[in-house]
Amino acid sequence: APKAAPVNKVSQYACQRRTTTENYNKIFTDAFEVLAENYEFNDIEGRCLAFRRAASVLKSLPSAVQCVEATQDLPCLGEHTKAVMKEILQYGRSFEVEKILSDLRCQTLKLFTSVFGVGPKTAEKWYRRGLRSFSDVLAEPSIHLNRMQQSGFLHYGDISRAVSKAEAQAVGNIIDEAVHVITPNAILALTGGFRRGKDFGHDVDFIVTTPELGQEESLLIDVIDYLKKQGLLLFTDHQASTFDISKLPSHKFEAMDHFAKCFLILRLESSQVEGGLQRSEGDSRNWRAVRVDLVSPPMDRYAFTQLGWTGSRMFERDLRRFARLERQMLLDNHALYDKTKKEFLTATTEKDIFDHLGLEYIEPWQRNA
Ligand code: CTP
Ligand code: MN
Ligand code: MN
Ligand code: MN
Repeated sequence: APKAAPVNKVSQYACQRRTTTENYNKIFTDAFEVLAENYEFNDIEGRCLAFRRAASVLKSLPSAVQCVEATQDLPCLGEHTKAVMKEILQYGRSFEVEKILSDLRCQTLKLFTSVFGVGPKTAEKWYRRGLRSFSDVLAEPSIHLNRMQQSGFLHYGDISRAVSKAEAQAVGNIIDEAVHVITPNAILALTGGFRRGKDFGHDVDFIVTTPELGQEESLLIDVIDYLKKQGLLLFTDHQASTFDISKLPSHKFEAMDHFAKCFLILRLESSQVEGGLQRSEGDSRNWRAVRVDLVSPPMDRYAFTQLGWTGSRMFERDLRRFARLERQMLLDNHALYDKTKKEFLTATTEKDIFDHLGLEYIEPWQRNA
């Protein structure tokens, strides 16, 4: 007899799932991430995305998968992903994953891309030149490192170590002071992984803006200046706004948004952190370097920016895919456009955007897809 339709079918869209930081299927999702990254290094985008989607679905489950049969009603799990899961269930590990982890090219690309400012293309270029270690790269006279990469190597130990919640809080205090000295009624909001409730992050992300439209234009520059004078800035890359209100939302997911933003490395003193800094053994310094991102949209774009920068990346990707495929709408970090009505839809809160899309509201801590 035909089975009744499952009551709570898991959606193929991450924006219709609630995904907390609690991951009961880490053993599988860690394996999928290795495979996805390997496909990324080899420029096989489709398979890379397939494994990231599969991992995202498993992250949303309320318990660990005990057998492959239990996954039959789940979306986004293909033959390959199920075969990997079977291996892990049977042997406790995946041989395909282990083969990748022991592969020199993959190891080297992973090492190189772990440097701030080094993407897969640069990593590949260095690998092709026969470089295998940081000392190889730094000793190669023909290699010119840009400013970001120089800082990446200089502060490698610090910025490759996770940022704790207490450290993120301390960074927030520093930014809070700077922003409000410059503009007393400025708005500062935490975004990114820490807003999703993560305990650790690779950086700390903030939105800074002003209630008055246009007043935000000089804010970032002034904040950078203030931090510099305090001796707290170890690196800054400021990108001026190229935002154009008449532009339709972008179709391309990976395209950067057009708001003014800066990528910083901040000097954080131990005395500023409640409970002090988490230091590695043998490190007696009383400070550490921390990566910080600031984005500064005009106030009427605040909700779109908050929704776009809170992440996770898979959640963002699926919000846009859902908007396009299920609602004939275009969404990005700047705006939401209804292609049927041929009009922009405004929003002052994230909830407004979910409403426009006909989606149940998903709290930030449920967006860890
Ligand atoms: N983002 C963006 N445009 C950028 C940089 C980031 O839209 N130029 C978005 C990303 O899509 C992501 C969010 O901002 O959803 C935060 O990015 P990031 O700091 O890289 O990741 P987190 O989710 O915060 O995780 P982590 O702890 O690793 O920092
Ligand atoms: Mn990198
Ligand atoms: Mn982040
Ligand atoms: Mn960031």
